[in-house]
Amino acid sequence: MIKRIAFLGCGSMGEAILSGMLASGFKPSAVIATVRRAERAQELASRYGIVAIASDEDAEANQQAVKGADVVILAVKPLGIADLCREVHSVLPPRAVVLSVAAAVSIEQMEAALPAEQPVIRAMPNTPLKVRRGVVALSAGSRASDSHVALAHEVFAGSGLVLDVPEDQQNAVSAISGSGPAYAFYLAEAMAAAGREFGLDDDTAILLARETVAGAGLMLAQPGADPAVLRRAVTSPNGTTERALATFEEQGLPGIITAGAQAAAARAAAITSELSGS
Ligand SMILES: NC(=O)c1ccc[n+]([C@@H]2O[C@H](COP(=O)([O-])OP(=O)(O)OC[C@H]3O[C@@H](n4cnc5c(N)ncnc54)[C@H](OP(=O)(O)O)[C@@H]3O)[C@@H](O)[C@H]2O)c1
Repeated sequence: MIKRIAFLGCGSMGEAILSGMLASGFKPSAVIATVRRAERAQELASRYGIVAIASDEDAEANQQAVKGADVVILAVKPLGIADLCREVHSVLPPRAVVLSVAAAVSIEQMEAALPAEQPVIRAMPNTPLKVRRGVVALSAGSRASDSHVALAHEVFAGSGLVLDVPEDQQNAVSAISGSGPAYAFYLAEAMAAAGREFGLDDDTAILLARETVAGAGLMLAQPGADPAVLRRAVTSPNGTTERALATFEEQGLPGIITAGAQAAAARAAAITSELSGS
């Protein structure tokens, strides 16, 4: 069981994980978070009742935060991960599992920047963790035991679905579920824009699009829901929806979505190479 957890970096993703954990009953007194800016630290402390330290004010914020932690979450941007590992290298409790949520940073890169025996787990979460509907894929490093993996599952268990995947699938996961919430928001934006084309006012167009995507999401969230079955159930032969879907197909929308996901995965692979200096 997790007794003390440190978040090194707590922006959009760190806060999604934190809020999901707290909503599922984890105690704020067991959490310490670091960020760069003092105002962000104050915001997190007052919103969640946790201890939050700003590295702009305290150069040893990250080193302080990891003391006594059994889980250390790395949630800064990918480019900052190796530096952060080196920064806390000398003070990490040997038993602490280091759990990185950074896209594109490999386990090998983190293990190289951490003490020789430090267990490492790479995770790809998504922001619906905030509303306890996240998806997280975990890949354990060579030094992580089953009990370390269990601690990582515990971090996310109350806030979404947790899967174990081989590390070589992490870029695919990132392209589908890591970036995926943005695709769904983009769909809602595009639907609202289509509504405005019909002359709907802004508020009505965005309301229709937002509630429709959210409602469809709730239907998809039912156990065993199949998107193709749900789609067919609202598509009458020769009806209006069928005409729209046929137009999406004719104009190549499935291929466009695949191309977007492939571009996301390719970008992740390129970042991994950039970080290795190759
Ligand atoms: N956002 C997503 O949907 C998503 C999905 C999957 C994975 N991820 C991964 O999550 C990680 C964080 O992304 P994000 O979207 O949460 O970025 P973000 O909102 O920019 O958050 C980064 C956080 O790191 C803090 N920070 C920067 N340097 C620091 C340092 N030296 N010490 C302590 N804190 C520091 C920042 O502090 P300030 O707030 O003071 O600037 C901020 O709180 C990335 O590696 C990304 O690949 C994100």
